[in-house]
Amino acid sequence: MNITIVRSINDLRSYVRKWKKSDESISIVPTMGALHAGHLSLVREATSLSDRVIVTLFVNPSQFESTEDLDKYPRNEDDDIEKLTPFNVDLLYAPQTDEIYPSGHSTKIVVSGVSQGLCGDFRPGHFDSVATVVGKLLAQSLADKAFFGEKDFQQLHVIKRMVLDLDLPVEIVPCKTIREPDQLALSSRNSQLSSNDRKIAPILAQTLFDAADQIKEGVDVATVLYNSKEKLIRSGFRKIDYIEFRADRDLRVLSKFDECGRIMAAVYLGKIRLIDNVEISKY
Ligand code: PAF
Repeated sequence: MNITIVRSINDLRSYVRKWKKSDESISIVPTMGALHAGHLSLVREATSLSDRVIVTLFVNPSQFESTEDLDKYPRNEDDDIEKLTPFNVDLLYAPQTDEIYPSGHSTKIVVSGVSQGLCGDFRPGHFDSVATVVGKLLAQSLADKAFFGEKDFQQLHVIKRMVLDLDLPVEIVPCKTIREPDQLALSSRNSQLSSNDRKIAPILAQTLFDAADQIKEGVDVATVLYNSKEKLIRSGFRKIDYIEFRADRDLRVLSKFDECGRIMAAVYLGKIRLIDNVEISKY
């Protein structure tokens, strides 16, 4: 099926108006392109739960740490369109930067609490930029449901909090992390790893799964976190931004396994920053 591409809010809105008039439900899958099986699982879920699906493709400049990082981000719209073709996607919304941030744009959404700590400590302003662009995409699309991956678990919490606090009439649907056979979480950044670093990368997920098992077995949380960090450093990860045990529900720091939690980590392999998390369920 050929995907219709729109690049302006006006064009997007004219489709949305038509669908709303005929009472069709609308889902949105926000992406920055460089689509992989993780994104496609969100698209699949969205198409199964709604009448109309919009995939957005916008590389949001303000959420990158540096222009070097932004420039390095993989972009290939034709490739992304090809990957979406087998799915029942109604629209690809791929605006230019000045459509999203026209001259004079001066509003920012700042979500406190859940955006502090973890990645928030290492990427100042990052979650303000994510919240702002997602807030805009939700307002532009008037979607009933929006799909986000659990791999970006803190981002998911920031977006849920924003939607709650701003009374936005949209349901946020979290989707499970998709992994390579060696357990590496899928990420658009994986393609930037050197071939040697690609061999080391799965040790991150493996370490988090091991840590989760140990915490479940009752090993002291601080000891597990300390040993996991040591293992990552010994394995060749250049820098560990954090490895922490947080509450699944609201990202509170947990020192004991007395409720559902997540082991969450951000690490560097060479110049590439990888994040991952593993759920530790009480059930
Ligand atoms: O997760 C991402 O790809 C981005 O942060 C998002 C949600 C599309 C906002 O730019």
